[in-house]
Amino acid sequence: MALNQPLTTRVADGEKPALPQTTSVPRPSSHAMRPAPAGDIALSTSTSRPTLRSDERRRVWLDAYNAVRRETERRAAPLAPEDQVVQSMPDASPTKWHRAHTTWFFEQFLVTPRLADYRVFDERFAFLFNSYYVAAGPRHARPQRGLITRPTCDEVAAYRAHVDAAVARLLATASAAALDDILPLLELGLNHEQQHQELILTDILHAFAQNPTAPAYDARWTWPVSQRKRDDFVTLAGGVYRIGHAGDGFMYDNEGPAHEVLLQPVRLAANLVTNAEWLEFIADGGYANPTLWLSDGWACVQAEGWTAPGYWRQVDGAWFVMTLGGLRPVDPAAPVCHVSYYEADAFARWAGKHVPSEAEWEVAARTDRLGDAFGLVWQWTRSAYAPYPGYRASADALGEYNGKFMVNQMVLRGSSLATPAGHARATYRNFFYPPHRWQFSGVRLADYGA
Ligand SMILES: [Fe+2]
Repeated sequence: MALNQPLTTRVADGEKPALPQTTSVPRPSSHAMRPAPAGDIALSTSTSRPTLRSDERRRVWLDAYNAVRRETERRAAPLAPEDQVVQSMPDASPTKWHRAHTTWFFEQFLVTPRLADYRVFDERFAFLFNSYYVAAGPRHARPQRGLITRPTCDEVAAYRAHVDAAVARLLATASAAALDDILPLLELGLNHEQQHQELILTDILHAFAQNPTAPAYDARWTWPVSQRKRDDFVTLAGGVYRIGHAGDGFMYDNEGPAHEVLLQPVRLAANLVTNAEWLEFIADGGYANPTLWLSDGWACVQAEGWTAPGYWRQVDGAWFVMTLGGLRPVDPAAPVCHVSYYEADAFARWAGKHVPSEAEWEVAARTDRLGDAFGLVWQWTRSAYAPYPGYRASADALGEYNGKFMVNQMVLRGSSLATPAGHARATYRNFFYPPHRWQFSGVRLADYGA
């Protein structure tokens, strides 16, 4: 299966983002890219309560809105208009499209239905910038987003400003009762935009990786510092545990209902698999040994010619990797990144270990004993992306956000270096197709041995 020919036309289209605790805007590199600790996403718990004074709620949410919107623009700012138009594969979208699509989301689902005197910026934009919401009307083909040279980047900036002004007007003029309806939608829209902020980086990295000159998104970019644990493994006793989101704070619908799961005794690696370990896998013929691979995975290896993780290339016998900082030597101590589920599974088999389930990962993460659970690489799990018991998507257009993708994909847990600050929690369920590896995806092993 060719990586550039996905099983469907949609791949986690930015449909999962927690809101900023502050209005500060971190840089998309190094330490500043690390998210807040899991659960530290308190904006909604403190500001959506109807008990707060109405004017305070309006102010806090407008500040949050502006902060998220600024962060999107900050991430796009290093990119020239030429960079922002390119679509390097069907699964990736142009930066300009991300900026416009996130704006359409607010216009479509928040402003147009709720602001009486709102005038749509451009009637044609709904077709261009609707991603996959069938109930919201027809849309442009995903693989052809790179052909949309118009509207220009400047026109998209004007679109963003137009909708920003409308959102500010809506927050200022809505009745106190109406705010109870508006704020959850606003919060969803902000989380949605944060998901696209991550995609802006993953997608432009893929585009730059196709350029023989290996451009740097940020020449000063460095890997975030690892928070490795000294222990080798985190032991979980067998038994019944509760997973899923419950209580205060923003959650996507796919994080619930909270429910009980039965775990077997297991040990989860305290740390992520490193490049040094992956180099051993390569040297031992890992990519040439079909007995290590799932059938679909082996087909991928052969079709794609995989001999190493995504973006790795050999230069004069040494391994280099394309990063946000351009082409850099592979750092043996850094966690392996840009590997598919198939590679994670093959590596685990080679290592005599397993890929953990998402329930095991969540239970272990709640103990705070997993090193680098958040902020470096998403971690594949062997759990299929399926609904939790009793899950039901809402009947409106926003019910399409997560529910309709609950087949044929695998769950990833944690967060990555590209995940915006505050947008991570132990219950978060990311999901991608097994061959995909242009996200910042890595591996944590599980061991069921005695
Ligand atoms: Fe989206």
